[in-house]
Amino acid sequence: MDRTYVAEPYKIKVVEPIAVTTRSERQRFMAEAGYNTFLLRSDQCYIDLLTDSGTSAMSDNQWAGMMLGDEAYAGSRNFIHLQEVVREYYGFKHVVPTHQGRGAENLLSSICIKPGDYVPGNMYFTTTRAHQERNGANFVDIIIDEAHDSQAELPFKGNIDIAKLSRLIDEVGADKIPYVCLAVTVNLAGGQPVSMANMRAVHELCSKNGIKVMFDATRCVENAYFIKTREKEYADTTIAAILKEMMSYADGCTMSGKKDCLVNIGGFLCMNDDDLYQKACELVVLFEGMPSYGGLAGRDMEAMARGIMESVDYNYIHHRVSQCEYLAEKLKEGGVPVVKPTGGHAVFLDARAFLSHIPQDQFPAQALAAELYLESGVRSMERGIVSAGRDKKTGQNYHPKLELVRLTIPRRVYTYSHLDVVAAAAVSLYKRRETIKGLEMIYEPKLLRFFTARFKPLA
Ligand code: F0G
Repeated sequence: MDRTYVAEPYKIKVVEPIAVTTRSERQRFMAEAGYNTFLLRSDQCYIDLLTDSGTSAMSDNQWAGMMLGDEAYAGSRNFIHLQEVVREYYGFKHVVPTHQGRGAENLLSSICIKPGDYVPGNMYFTTTRAHQERNGANFVDIIIDEAHDSQAELPFKGNIDIAKLSRLIDEVGADKIPYVCLAVTVNLAGGQPVSMANMRAVHELCSKNGIKVMFDATRCVENAYFIKTREKEYADTTIAAILKEMMSYADGCTMSGKKDCLVNIGGFLCMNDDDLYQKACELVVLFEGMPSYGGLAGRDMEAMARGIMESVDYNYIHHRVSQCEYLAEKLKEGGVPVVKPTGGHAVFLDARAFLSHIPQDQFPAQALAAELYLESGVRSMERGIVSAGRDKKTGQNYHPKLELVRLTIPRRVYTYSHLDVVAAAAVSLYKRRETIKGLEMIYEPKLLRFFTARFKPLA
């Protein structure tokens, strides 16, 4: 490895032991879990890269904030603090807390979507699309074509294709498009960012047509880091200033605080529009709680407010993204096919190339995730045909171009040594890839099947 990587910008005050298991134990655990890593127990996992969601280590300052929780039913001072911080860092007028990101997605989709509407987005996210479809919308993928090619090395592979958006507006009419859902970054494309120029262009086209732009802001700080390091004009701009400018091109956002707000639970919905805010306040009471807590304890809102302030520290985000780059470099050195360029929250193994002998209907990414666990105790996640689910009209499986295994890096949790273990396991699997077999699905739940589906190995 030629380049050097920045060391951890924190020191460790509390430690949590992790489980070391034998291969025969793991074989039993995996069979019991139906070859689905979601169904493993966390104490059966050595290095848990299932997700970066809710798995961050909080700072001493956030834990101190937890003790200042004001658990009043209404008007908690922690809500007031969260509101101030969101206004300052994100720039939106209104904020409605929710228990997590999908709570905000539920409110937004229920309020804005009429049956038969179209919601364009830069690739889909599972829960986001499920909420849009539940409310009768047709989801339309308007991400640039290159995003579906795991090897296309573009700096902003999450960008919206403006021509696709423009064509959709001409075809269905602006009144059928309640909002454009713009994700920063794009999780399922590999954590790929969107450029500031693209956000500006989407905003311009949408405002001309009276269409709202709602960001899925889940990993917006990682996106801001990529803008700083890849979009020339922003090299000398702070992460905080980039974040604020990004948000100025949106009418609001949904946020899963479990990622870039550095908390274990929490989310929010933001908007500038007073009418939309009023409707959200009416609905949040039904699903989450009072508009001043939305399913969160006062202490959770305090931790999230403090997490937002910490998240824009350059040293923090530089190290976070560097950990992803480090793991990707090690894998590439070992010949393992990964999605390029490396994203902000994870390294994605290209299971289609890794297991080219397994057809997509035999779930290569699911099989690879299971095998990686058996090999090393490292837990990862399938992001391919199982996650993509079925077309709601035809009932047929979607066949996404990207058939991936996500190695997701929790924030401030693992060290470079842990990543060495992960890389070594994946490289050794790659060397004996022909021995890996496909799977058969033996239980398929109707909604978001990847969470609880069960499989068995093919003979
Ligand atoms: N949007 C994106 C881009 C996400 O990655 C997630 C969650 C959500 C919305 C929903 O937020 O979980 O707080 O309700 N992603 C997690 C993951 C689950 O593992 O990627 P939530």
